[in-house]
Amino acid sequence: MTILKVSNLNKKIGKKEILKDVSFEINEGEILAFIGPNGAGKTTTIKCILGLQKMTSGTITINGYDIKKDFVKAIAKVGCIVESPDVYMYLTGLENLKLQASLYKNITEEEIYRVIKLVGLESRINDKVSKYSLGMRQRLGIAISLLNNPNLLILDEPTNGLDPEGIKDLRELLVMLAKQKVGILISSHNLSELESFCNKVCIIQKGVLIKESTIANLKQVNNSKYIIKLNSTKNIKNFLNSEDKIQDEHYVEVIKSEEEIAEFINLLVKNNLKIYEVKKEDLTLEEAFINIAGGQNV
Ligand SMILES: Nc1ncnc2c1ncn2[C@@H]1O[C@H](COP(=O)(O)OP(=O)(O)O)[C@@H](O)[C@H]1O
Ligand SMILES: [Mg+2]
Repeated sequence: MTILKVSNLNKKIGKKEILKDVSFEINEGEILAFIGPNGAGKTTTIKCILGLQKMTSGTITINGYDIKKDFVKAIAKVGCIVESPDVYMYLTGLENLKLQASLYKNITEEEIYRVIKLVGLESRINDKVSKYSLGMRQRLGIAISLLNNPNLLILDEPTNGLDPEGIKDLRELLVMLAKQKVGILISSHNLSELESFCNKVCIIQKGVLIKESTIANLKQVNNSKYIIKLNSTKNIKNFLNSEDKIQDEHYVEVIKSEEEIAEFINLLVKNNLKIYEVKKEDLTLEEAFINIAGGQNV
């Protein structure tokens, strides 16, 4: 079942186009990584979904309800943390939860303890939040966002400032929620933090979605970037492809698979070029995506 469907979302602020025809969807139990550099439009997309910003055009439905026509029904089963979790530092975790629960009708004490257990904060729930680590505060934020039993959870850059341990805890929590059929939208500027547990990736750059892809496809990219130091790059142009680059008189940058780099080095040697150094680097996110998109900069 499709939980969230964003279709042709456009957002203009003044003359500036912040989002251009952004479309994607999340099904139940799916974790979507929403990846892009700072300023790409992640928070704006999320705020449009949550009705915190007005879209210029497009359609967003949550659980089948159009947010423009049926906002209250659409938002009823959404939990979110945008920017940073809204918690009071001078209250305990439990006091924060009770305060937030009072904003909803009919949240029982049992429900509150259910979410505490879910995020694993039982032993520290009576401590003041000021004593919590960032990871614990993040988990408390998620507990609060789970109070209304959402089937769509939206987290805007929740890994910011978390240490590897905190990221691991968050990952386990999200995977568990996804198993209970919650759909999850999680944004980050760093794919490597999320790729091990997300089912889908959307990359956004300057307000445009580059490519929606499954992680499986992404992992098929086995090309790497090689930096090669030569005696001279003067005559090398003929050997290069469009995605390769001459950096200066000694260095070139090429994108190749292992097989291809072996052949390439062979070719250079045959043409009497002296190779001083070959260094392998992982492709950046953008390079990897441009690579799967078939060498086109979309
Ligand atoms: N209120 C605003 N007025 C003008 N420009 C804005 C406003 N809010 C965001 N922007 C611009 O929109 C773009 C996307 O911002 P944002 O959605 O916050 O990106 P991200 O969350 O991916 O870092 C940025 O270029 C930002 O400068
Ligand atoms: Mg942001």
